[in-house]
Amino acid sequence: MIGQNEKILISQDAIQERVCKLAAQITKDYSGKELTILALMKGSVIFLADLLRLIPIPLRLEVLPVSSYHGGLETSGIVSFAEHFLPDIFNHHVLLVDDILDSGTTLKAITACILEKKPASLRSCVLLHKKVKTQPGIQAEYVGFEIPDAFVVGYGLDYQEYYRNFPEIRVLSAETIALRASPQHQ
Ligand code: IMP
Ligand code: MG
Repeated sequence: MIGQNEKILISQDAIQERVCKLAAQITKDYSGKELTILALMKGSVIFLADLLRLIPIPLRLEVLPVSSYHGGLETSGIVSFAEHFLPDIFNHHVLLVDDILDSGTTLKAITACILEKKPASLRSCVLLHKKVKTQPGIQAEYVGFEIPDAFVVGYGLDYQEYYRNFPEIRVLSAETIALRASPQHQ
């Protein structure tokens, strides 16, 4: 069974309770507005599915595949995404949804691209925020949980594309990192 060595940082119940509160706030802030949710894939997929179903206002959903980790434990600093996948968001209120705000490199790059398309407004919503790692001046308007500087997996977040299926947020263990680095995983 996977996950034996991964300590739970945030339980399923705590996530659900917080996601409800975030959704209520977003619903209130955007009622009567033309909302486009732009979700960064794949990390936000589970958060997005839960959040979206709790926002009962008309909205469009767009997704953008993005990667910056390329299999490691630290951001590579290079954010890859296909700009032509960006939807037409001129005059729309855009809410970016991502799993985690870490260094902020991803949010900074995507934000710059979106702003060129002249949306009516742009805000970000992340489930997790590693505040100690984030570059100054980068922030998300909606944050689920502030977390310490640990590599976490589950509820959509991965390590080398695995462990997205844990229903809670867990801290990746040294044992699992060693296991995935072993020759049978190469
Ligand atoms: P940033 O560009 O450094 O802010 O990193 C944002 C992206 O890195 C997130 O969307 C995640 O895909 C990934 N990431 C950052 N920290 C973690 C982590 O602790 N676990 C899994 N993925 C992470
Ligand atoms: Mg991501």
